[in-house]
Amino acid sequence: MAENKVILDHIDDAGEQAIEAYQAHGGYKGLEKAMKQMTPAQILDEIKISNLRGRGGAGFPAGIKWSFIKRDAPGPKYLICNADEGEPGTFKDRKIMTSKPHIIIEGMIIAAYCMGLDTGYIYIRGEFFEPYQAMDKAIEEAYSKGFLGKNILGTGFNFDLHTYLGAGAYICGDETALMNSLEGKRGYPRLKPPFPAQFGLYGRPTTVHNVETFAAVAPIIANGGKWYSELGTPKSGGTKLFGISGHVERPGVYELSLGTPWKEFFEDIAGGVRGGKKLKAIIPGGSSTPVLLPHELEGMLLDYESIQSKGSMLGTGAVIVFDETTDMVKVAYRAMKFYAHESCGQCTPCREGCDWYYDILGRIYHGEGRIEDLDTLEDLAKYIGPNTICAFGDAFVTPMLAFIRKFRSEFMDYIEKGKYGLQAVLDAEKKSEEINHA
Ligand SMILES: Cc1cc2nc3c(=O)[nH]c(=O)nc-3n(C[C@H](O)[C@H](O)[C@H](O)COP(=O)(O)O)c2cc1C
Repeated sequence: MAENKVILDHIDDAGEQAIEAYQAHGGYKGLEKAMKQMTPAQILDEIKISNLRGRGGAGFPAGIKWSFIKRDAPGPKYLICNADEGEPGTFKDRKIMTSKPHIIIEGMIIAAYCMGLDTGYIYIRGEFFEPYQAMDKAIEEAYSKGFLGKNILGTGFNFDLHTYLGAGAYICGDETALMNSLEGKRGYPRLKPPFPAQFGLYGRPTTVHNVETFAAVAPIIANGGKWYSELGTPKSGGTKLFGISGHVERPGVYELSLGTPWKEFFEDIAGGVRGGKKLKAIIPGGSSTPVLLPHELEGMLLDYESIQSKGSMLGTGAVIVFDETTDMVKVAYRAMKFYAHESCGQCTPCREGCDWYYDILGRIYHGEGRIEDLDTLEDLAKYIGPNTICAFGDAFVTPMLAFIRKFRSEFMDYIEKGKYGLQAVLDAEKKSEEINHA
């Protein structure tokens, strides 16, 4: 099985960012079809038939989300593209924005027309300056061709689209924190319900999707929902972008039919473990998804259900590969450093829990762990995940517990034998700094 390029089709062609190149490859045909030949209800039906699920991590069905919006309700209604892409290991949205920005814009206009939304925002993470510039340029081109603004394609439908550069905070990827941030407030997540479809941006009905979700919309409308659905499995329609990194021969972003066997992707397409080493573990969908061991990967298919049946999640499709030389205690400690830095601090269990986890993992890593530390981490977990406003608590507790449970003997080595001891760790860190600065 090879790659199946729907979103990534022509993406590496020189000049594909420009509207002319995009149109030469069939771009904006989906929009014309949607607005000239279809009713909003027919568009919604095609999205439902396509079986498209949100690509931002949770996998919620797009057609159901769109049906929550009351198209004819008076007053402003908003569409937001979540381009925060903060999940460690994830680098797919950046590629679409930089290299094929019009496929996102076309999908957003179709979505806005279908749901009757008048204004859209693309919320881009602070560090993504190049994608931000690419999106701005593409929006300008779309206005100049009459695809954005007033009376789009002579249908009387108006839709304005803007970019917004965030400040580079992981929490602003949560859709409700994102909306607060867009409103100029601190990026704190909001309690749900009410859901964005009822009380979203500025308290108005709002639909939020990931970049990749919007990028799938125009191909679905151009080719039909059935066509898209059949590219995947009966429960996981279409294709998905997988960004693979770490100890792998050919890291990069690949587009695969959902349901592609893991083995074929990893060995045939991505080239297997770098340097012929043995595989120790992978993280399948970004740092918030639990680590999987080689025996758990046997027979695994790359779709939502199969990865879940192995005890992890498809998440953002960001695969991180670890070879046999990887120190999993260090991986857990380093990942926890990220979460401790990024917790927004609004909920006490998450704010304090992150620091506790980071401190305890730190003392284990530095050769000063206590025999009861792993039990303390297990116990602490019960008080974090269920007691926070957003999913951040779960997003760090679940993968941390998987590290501890699946690599217990490595953690115990550190604790019981002080495996490397503080001085050895400091020496190793100094050496790696020297290499980095050489
Ligand atoms: C802490 C946190 C960070 C998130 N970061 C992102 C992100 O960077 N990009 C994204 O699309 N969704 C992110 N999400 C999920 C969004 O809240 C939301 O579910 C998603 O944007 C909906 O889009 P979809 O329906 O296309 O999946 C994050 C959620 C949480 C709790």
